[in-house]
Amino acid sequence: MDNRKRNLLEQETQRRYLLLLFQTGLKEIWTDQYRLKVLVLYLLTVLLFSIIRPWDLAYSGPDIFDAVSRIAFSLCFPFLVFGGLAVLILWAGTPSKAKSIQNNLQRIGLVNHAGETPLLVAVRTEESDDMHSRMTVLEFLACGVPKSVWEDKRADIETALNIHIADIRESDGKRRIQLYTVPATDELPKLLPWKDAYLRDAFPACKLVLGESLLGPVTLDLNLIPHVLLGGGTGSGKSVLLKLMLMQCLKQPNIQVTIADFKGGVDFGSPWRKHPNCKLILDRETLLCYLDDVTEKLEQRKDILGKVERRDIYDYNRHEPIPMDRIVFAVDEVAEILDKTGLTKEEKEQVARIENRLSTIARQGRAFGIHLFLSTQRPDANILSGQIKNNIGYRICGRADHVLSSIILDNTDASDKILHDAQGRFLTGDGTVFQAYWFDDTKKMF
Ligand SMILES: Nc1ncnc2c1ncn2[C@@H]1O[C@H](COP(=O)(O)OP(=O)(O)OP(=O)(O)O)[C@@H](O)[C@H]1O
Ligand SMILES: [Mg+2]
Repeated sequence: MDNRKRNLLEQETQRRYLLLLFQTGLKEIWTDQYRLKVLVLYLLTVLLFSIIRPWDLAYSGPDIFDAVSRIAFSLCFPFLVFGGLAVLILWAGTPSKAKSIQNNLQRIGLVNHAGETPLLVAVRTEESDDMHSRMTVLEFLACGVPKSVWEDKRADIETALNIHIADIRESDGKRRIQLYTVPATDELPKLLPWKDAYLRDAFPACKLVLGESLLGPVTLDLNLIPHVLLGGGTGSGKSVLLKLMLMQCLKQPNIQVTIADFKGGVDFGSPWRKHPNCKLILDRETLLCYLDDVTEKLEQRKDILGKVERRDIYDYNRHEPIPMDRIVFAVDEVAEILDKTGLTKEEKEQVARIENRLSTIARQGRAFGIHLFLSTQRPDANILSGQIKNNIGYRICGRADHVLSSIILDNTDASDKILHDAQGRFLTGDGTVFQAYWFDDTKKMF
């Protein structure tokens, strides 16, 4: 592209930008007290000048030069007034530090093919309803720089603008990009103790609250996300997070929890065992019987929902007089129940049947309120079959190396975004890093 064409494009973009700032300025003046006061002050000054007419006062006699300049000034006055007003409106619509932010983006090469940087059109603050997060949203006219490029250059942008980017979103179709940011000095806390108050919005919507990201609370709605696969290196915090989720299920009256723990149930002490809605399974035979029951129940629910023409359990429970319970089946280390190494032929057959039942639940459980929460250090193919894994859409990964992150999330992000000594820090499949709530199941839970 030659220089002349580049200049023409630049001028056109600048014209569009000025028009946009002007429109924003008009809106800002009506909504922002400070800007409105500046405008009123300006108009009062103009009014005062037009009443006093200082150029007339300075007129001292029939000097021809004086008379010409006086006429010229009084002719120019309206233009000066409107010019000043336009500048004031542009000032009101221009986000602070817009120029320096754009220069910084230019420095890291965030430009379109014509060499133009995205243009900052708005800066606003968003407070989340919990007190841990306060976002500044930077809104840009993308100027043809797609979201994928912003994501690729995320680390560069963070350094150039000295911020953490919690999220990048498109708006106005694909024309605008919004960066959800917090200052670079803000970080997720290393410890977030659980409080029962966090449950306030969960019932009866079947929502679980997992922890907090820089964007605010991270929740999981069982109506939308039926199954969860939790992976991560040893000591990353999987057991604590799984127990946090199960504890919340048990606090809701309509969820039945069953936990398979082949280590003799040592990980789940008396609060779990004594809870009327919680059942522990300690051996393979019982597990198989239980899973047979659950799959049978699944078929029964299919018939019931079909007969009353309800789409799923959510629809059924909202309209029918007697609601169905949700059923959650959880395993803390799935390799314990699915690893076939060293087993006899008969045991291998049992494991194959367990796998088969889990696969049915993973495929069909959502509509019928039957959920799987599976946790494991390493869900590779010889432990968790593709059929089960592919049907668990919601994956959460704790600290992990490249290979483990790829096995769990199908990308290496957990290894890049989670420090190698982090505890209770997780990454979801949609790219959200969060600190899970710390929860101690040796204390009173229910
Ligand atoms: N949410 C959290 N916040 C802070 N620290 C945590 C959190 N979760 C876990 N930890 C710390 O990490 C330690 C290990 O947690 P946990 O037993 O859940 O890990 P794990 O991933 O289940 O390990 P393994 O795979 O060996 O069973 C805990 O004892 C605790 O000190
Ligand atoms: Mg564990």
